[in-house]
Amino acid sequence: MGSLEKSRIDWRPNFKDKSVFVTGHTGFKGSWLSIWLADLGAKVSGYSLPAPTEPSNFHLSGVESMLEHHTIGDVRDREGLAAALIAADPDVVIHMAAQPIVRASYREPVENFDINVMGTVHLLEAVRQRGKPCTVIVVTTDKCYANNEHGWCFREVDPMGGHDPYSASKGAAELVVASYRDSFFSPEKLDQHQIQVASVRAGNVIGGGDWAENRIVVDVQAALAEGRSIVLRSPDAVRPWQHVLEPLSGYCQLAATMLANPDPKWCSGWNFGPETRDEMTVAEIVDTFINIWGSGHWEHDVENNVLPEAHVLRLSIEKAIAQLKWSPMWSVEEAIQRTAHWFREYHQDPGQSMLEACRRDIHAYESAWTSEPEIRTLRILDAATSSAETTLEPPMPSRQAG
Ligand SMILES: NC(=O)c1ccc[n+]([C@@H]2O[C@H](COP(=O)([O-])OP(=O)(O)OC[C@H]3O[C@@H](n4cnc5c(N)ncnc54)[C@H](O)[C@@H]3O)[C@@H](O)[C@H]2O)c1
Repeated sequence: MGSLEKSRIDWRPNFKDKSVFVTGHTGFKGSWLSIWLADLGAKVSGYSLPAPTEPSNFHLSGVESMLEHHTIGDVRDREGLAAALIAADPDVVIHMAAQPIVRASYREPVENFDINVMGTVHLLEAVRQRGKPCTVIVVTTDKCYANNEHGWCFREVDPMGGHDPYSASKGAAELVVASYRDSFFSPEKLDQHQIQVASVRAGNVIGGGDWAENRIVVDVQAALAEGRSIVLRSPDAVRPWQHVLEPLSGYCQLAATMLANPDPKWCSGWNFGPETRDEMTVAEIVDTFINIWGSGHWEHDVENNVLPEAHVLRLSIEKAIAQLKWSPMWSVEEAIQRTAHWFREYHQDPGQSMLEACRRDIHAYESAWTSEPEIRTLRILDAATSSAETTLEPPMPSRQAG
């Protein structure tokens, strides 16, 4: 990251009264995003299949009651998706609905490609057919890059790829985004169509409320709560770990920036990963979690590690730091600590609402960044009057998150 200067942009006011269409709102990341945006005064409409796990943060935090529209639908249903998008009449679309599990993609490769690739086509086609100004963020993953395990940091200009079906489907979704952008939402003709499309790539995220299959924190908290030994398939695998609020803040800041100051330069791919120092092996993550929990142990499952997954993934976030003024806030230790506390609270009374636990983390995250000395706001601009010079307000005094 070198000597790039850090400062923060407070994008939160830019979502007030904005209509935001979120696909995958019943999932782990989607439920956190919906809570955050609804609390900021956005009108959030969700479209997805039912919550993919039981329990789920979506149900535990009562997300449905915070939504403008809640539609249970499949992104493979092109007409249903288009109808929901039109009903929501969004200023911003955040496309997260996906088959997100590498192992599941080996079991059901056709379904995986159908959801992740054609779902993205259907979403962008719905935006195209609607033909109204809009900011679109398509969520893929750090696994979208062609990875030959060289160990260097992927930059946004690196080629797409992916060996396993999940990674390949996300690499393909990126190509779909690029194709729609080049063919129908050309950044050079932005003033004519006013549709900005960006894709966002983050790594493994952790946080309260994730119960998805084969995710490390999910397995760890369940084993610890039941007093079982934690079984690790790849204890030495290095992943760029971060709290779920980190990439969500990146997606939101990018969307807010695009809303405030429409510009071709935003219409591209963006990495939102952790600082390089916040990489940890799976074993280190689990040891940290066990320390916070107070007891527990793990063992290496050598025999069942049969499905190949990328061993080393690193993201360069220099573009986001330099051009968006975004940077991660929390150390990986803090991310693990917050996650462990969330799950410990849940296990004390699995019937309770977890909304306040989510809000506590959101407010703590906002406080961390609003206490930065260089906090700036995005001026809320009329698209017709926007210009690069007026994007950033001068530094403001810190303010407490509310
Ligand atoms: N969690 C991570 O560590 C991580 C890392 C990188 C990228 N991502 C990406 O972030 C996004 C959200 O992931 P998540 O961790 O919240 O996953 P999740 O499984 O918790 O949520 C997935 C969401 O997509 C919905 N969905 C699945 N198939 C659908 C279909 N056919 N039609 C409509 N909705 C459907 C589910 O109902 C759910 O709302 C995904 O695009 C995923 O690939 C996640």
